Amino acid sequence: MIPRPLGLLAELTHRCPLGCPYCSNPLALEQPATELDAATWAEVFRQAAAMGVLQVHLSGGEPGARRDLEDITDSASQAGLYTNLITSAVGVDRQRLQRLQARGLDHIQISFQDLAESSADHIAGYRGAHARKLALAASAAAMDLPLTINIVIHRANIERLEPLVDFAADLGAGRVEVAHAQYYGWALQNRAALMPTRDQVDRAVCLIPRLRERYAGRMAIDSVVPDYYETRPKPCMGGWARQTLNVTPSGLVLPCHAAQTIPGLTFWSVREHNLAEIWTASPAFTAFRGTDWMQEPCRSCAFRQEDFGGCRCQALAVTGDAAAADPSCELSPTHAELRAMAEKAAASAESAYTYRGRNRQSRAIPIPVR
Ligand code: SF4
Ligand code: FES
Repeated sequence: MIPRPLGLLAELTHRCPLGCPYCSNPLALEQPATELDAATWAEVFRQAAAMGVLQVHLSGGEPGARRDLEDITDSASQAGLYTNLITSAVGVDRQRLQRLQARGLDHIQISFQDLAESSADHIAGYRGAHARKLALAASAAAMDLPLTINIVIHRANIERLEPLVDFAADLGAGRVEVAHAQYYGWALQNRAALMPTRDQVDRAVCLIPRLRERYAGRMAIDSVVPDYYETRPKPCMGGWARQTLNVTPSGLVLPCHAAQTIPGLTFWSVREHNLAEIWTASPAFTAFRGTDWMQEPCRSCAFRQEDFGGCRCQALAVTGDAAAADPSCELSPTHAELRAMAEKAAASAESAYTYRGRNRQSRAIPIPVR
């Protein structure tokens, strides 16, 4: 039986003033002229709710770049979905947040890059971003709007994991996501500048239980571990086409944010198909659903129903074959290669980032991009 999706990631736009070097948006960003209008998003939300989707993540790019974000939020709420705004905080100030809450916004997630303003702005590629994030987090707390802080962890900030979690608690977050960078898309481009050492990752992973104990009952701590140094893969997206769907700004529906890196997959659009039809029958969703597509060692593995062979996009990026076992699995024939890649990247002296959506690199100094 085909499972029903629980969540929908609505990428309202790929426009964003920030340039984070690990952004999950594709290397080829969709153009504003192709974006779905608010009425089409409203129909998407109605169809999603009818399928059993419970929550929608209003994301981007920076969703605040949409002038009609209030209308879009309203339509998601009217459809009965729990609405979460995933924002860089640039483009959403206190007044706008109040308007969004009045239109049904249930929750906000703000990303932070680091503790110190200079480092945080450098990683984001935007001077002044950190100050805006602090202001918006304070506004959310003052408005009693549930707040999640998202922190992507990589070589430049991994040594500050503990104070970063304390910082999230001080901001009033009910949840913090400690998300080690996942190396697809922009992060793959920047792997040599982002990859921490195995020792750093091991220490960071060991900290999590202690931090969970410290904040038990006050703040939940989600942790997405970096699997380059793992021996078993994560069940990426909870398994391909099992729990969530992503709708791109132009209306293409993807099983995961990096699915367009896989050659040969055809993505259907909400402009031409109903969401339920896309979920059950579109070529991209059926390509790796279940276990029939698997090859050895996954095909006969006892863990295939637990991790679903790991991540298809990572398998493609490292082995060239999206149907291969995720190379983070120690049973994969390319596992040693992945480990060697990680160790080589971690040993690299590279510190320049290729910023998302820009054709230039930056070294130590935060760059003015306004
Ligand atoms: Fe998972 Fe495949 Fe590795 Fe088994 S062989 S643990 S199914 S990735
Ligand atoms: Fe695409 Fe993991 S990011 S399956």
